[in-house]
Amino acid sequence: MPEIRPYRTADRDQLARICLLTAAAGGDATGVYSDDALMPEVFALPYVEYAPELAFVVADGDRVLGYVIGVADTAAFVEWWKQNWAPGFAARHPSPGEPTGRDPEFTEAQLIEAGTAPERLLIDELAEYPAHLHIDLLPELQGQGFGRRLIDTLRRALAARGVPAVHLGMDAANTGARAFYDRLGFHELPSSRPGSPLLGIATSDAADPGGAATGGGAAVSE
Ligand SMILES: CC(C)(COP(=O)(O)OP(=O)(O)OC[C@H]1O[C@@H](n2cnc3c(N)ncnc32)[C@H](O)[C@@H]1OP(=O)(O)O)[C@@H](O)C(=O)NCCC(=O)NCCS
Repeated sequence: MPEIRPYRTADRDQLARICLLTAAAGGDATGVYSDDALMPEVFALPYVEYAPELAFVVADGDRVLGYVIGVADTAAFVEWWKQNWAPGFAARHPSPGEPTGRDPEFTEAQLIEAGTAPERLLIDELAEYPAHLHIDLLPELQGQGFGRRLIDTLRRALAARGVPAVHLGMDAANTGARAFYDRLGFHELPSSRPGSPLLGIATSDAADPGGAATGGGAAVSE
């Protein structure tokens, strides 16, 4: 029975792989860019490096099947990224590689820019929504309530740290994820745009993931 637990350093490679396998509007992004390490190095690994205490996974024994990752203070994270993540990233990925023929809308040049210039994370609503998150589940885990429970686990961890609300940016093409966020009560932020939706939610009324409000069943060993 899969269960939600805090992230451990040993989960790092599996987390990176889940990121890759869900990064193309929710589907497999393997081979979309010239280097499969790029997506995890922008959208997953900096988070667990910076704030491992705000990362939670769904694991079945040693197998990690999904995760939610977040940072409490996006502005502080941007400063950390500039100092501690961007230099190594730029050294590993100095320029886009050979075209893969997949022609993604979010180009490899833009992805590399995202890895070196985290200022893109400084949205207008940061004062009210200082935290942000990413969530990804392997297909085999989807549709069983773990996404909702992971979000609630992170919301509760943020609330316990005094963070009032959390936001996320997403690919407008990911209609399944959008339906999920809408169902959970996320709302569009004022600076949200149809092509790049920005959604937010308060941390305060998250259900207890082990409790009746979410159907129970997933023990969280924090
Ligand atoms: C999007 C994702 C996180 C949702 O997690 P999940 O575990 O599949 O969703 P849950 O089972 O917890 O669903 C929670 C609620 O959202 C609804 N929901 C989830 N996916 C939905 C979909 N595709 N369409 C309509 N409703 C959906 C469920 O019906 C459920 O409603 P209920 O609790 O009222 O019964 C997960 O499917 C996933 O990781 N997808 C691939 C990666 C991805 O797209 N990540 C997000 C990037 S922005």
